[in-house]
Amino acid sequence: MIKNRLYFGDNLGILKHYMDDNSIDLIYLDPPFQSGKDYNILFKDKNGSVSTAQIKAFEDTWQWDNDSEYHYLQFVQSAPKEAADIIKAFREFLQRTDMMAYLIMMAPGLLEMYRVLKPSGTIYLHCDPTASHFLKLLMDSIFGIGNFRNELVWYYRGAGIPKNDFSRRHDIILRYSKTDTYYFNPDPARQPYADATVERFSHYIGNIRKGHDYGRQKLHKLGKHPDDVFTDIQPIAPSARARLGYPTQKPEELLERIILTSSREGDIILDPFCGCGTTVIAAQKLKRKWVGIDITHLAISLIQSRLSQSFGNKCKYDIIGAPADLKGAEELAKRDPFQFEWWALTLAGAMPIDRDRKRGADKGIDGFIYFGDDFPNGKKIKTILLQVKSGHVGVAQIRDLKGVLARENAEIGVFLTLKSPTKPMIVEAAEADFYHSPSWNKDYPRIQILTIEDLFSNKSILYPPTGRTFKKAERIITPDAEQIEFGE
Ligand SMILES: C[S@@+](CC[C@H](N)C(=O)[O-])C[C@H]1O[C@@H](n2cnc3c(N)ncnc32)[C@H](O)[C@@H]1O
Repeated sequence: MIKNRLYFGDNLGILKHYMDDNSIDLIYLDPPFQSGKDYNILFKDKNGSVSTAQIKAFEDTWQWDNDSEYHYLQFVQSAPKEAADIIKAFREFLQRTDMMAYLIMMAPGLLEMYRVLKPSGTIYLHCDPTASHFLKLLMDSIFGIGNFRNELVWYYRGAGIPKNDFSRRHDIILRYSKTDTYYFNPDPARQPYADATVERFSHYIGNIRKGHDYGRQKLHKLGKHPDDVFTDIQPIAPSARARLGYPTQKPEELLERIILTSSREGDIILDPFCGCGTTVIAAQKLKRKWVGIDITHLAISLIQSRLSQSFGNKCKYDIIGAPADLKGAEELAKRDPFQFEWWALTLAGAMPIDRDRKRGADKGIDGFIYFGDDFPNGKKIKTILLQVKSGHVGVAQIRDLKGVLARENAEIGVFLTLKSPTKPMIVEAAEADFYHSPSWNKDYPRIQILTIEDLFSNKSILYPPTGRTFKKAERIITPDAEQIEFGE
């Protein structure tokens, strides 16, 4: 039985190495758009509202560099002729620009998506007018002009008015099939007919074609065939309960429309840029199987938390790519120390701190956990500060952590390390006395050293039990929740 899967890593490598030809029924991708913005992920702050404590979720900016040059040469030498020709033409026109860097990042992944899509499958590429014209040509060259099905326009309300232009209020979703025998069911997306149409069709208005009278025309009982412009779905408002703080989070209704019209129950849906997991959640809700990929560990953690809050333990899936043992953690630390840091903090139940804040006044802090233990009426929010180290460690770092704790007036400091601590480190930590919790009447070591191995063997930070982590997703209750169980 095919299992639901969540992959942590670069989608190109994962598609290439883990995914079979012709194995996916529906692909939805919402890649970074080349919008030139850095997106920040927001967390709940001390008071439970959205805080300004942000960290960069991913950087939506592309620059032409040696890597782009390498990928360009690789692509033009190995891709099918039409796709290679388009990329060469783009290069002539765009030269070594950021847009070209973006397109050369997208091209090899799209080729892989073509390979993994079933002949009956459909792909939806979500983009905006910044790059949609280039992406359409690229898609034409990979999927074939004849397999272009729709340019969907997602129109939404919004704020902000440009001085000398029309307001930009839509995204583009390019829809392609792999062959001309693809699945499409318009019924779940049918819309109510206009009153004037209902009125007009309520009596005979003539229906004679080629001399034959076909009699009175009927309207479809489920409503009008859906148009290629979606006007009835709004983005998630920044203050909405459904918003999890992931900056580019798409509304579930949008994904539900795509999934319901282009797949059947039990089909397999792939989202190779899955962000905070809107596709995954919608697929699970609609009884499809799913595969989600994201390069940011923070996205993976957010999806895990969203799945468990929405479906409890009814949703079974495998996580692939996130370290599952010490060796995996060492490899991740070597490959990408920044992702290692995020991953380790998540494993410890902490929130990472904004990268920019780390460089500034909050130097020496990688993550934090808040708790409150002045029951019953106390409002003081208390702080645990974390430092993460993947390299060599020594006693000076524990002294430094003590200094940071005093500077920040925090209650507990945690030193999270991949390597084992030295004896002097353990002694230095032990000399830091205890934090006394008034409500629990209990002492907790003020400086705690935890290794990654400790975390794998279920040891955890010692503190009064009231921590907060990600903003909570709403629980999805379906009448037959028992049946939403894919995988073993
Ligand atoms: C626009 S967001 C997707 C948002 C998503 N549709 C949602 O509703 O939450 C794009 C995501 O692609 C991820 N990403 C960027 N490059 C990637 C790559 N090469 N492989 C996998 N994921 C990538 C980013 O980390 C980010 O989470």
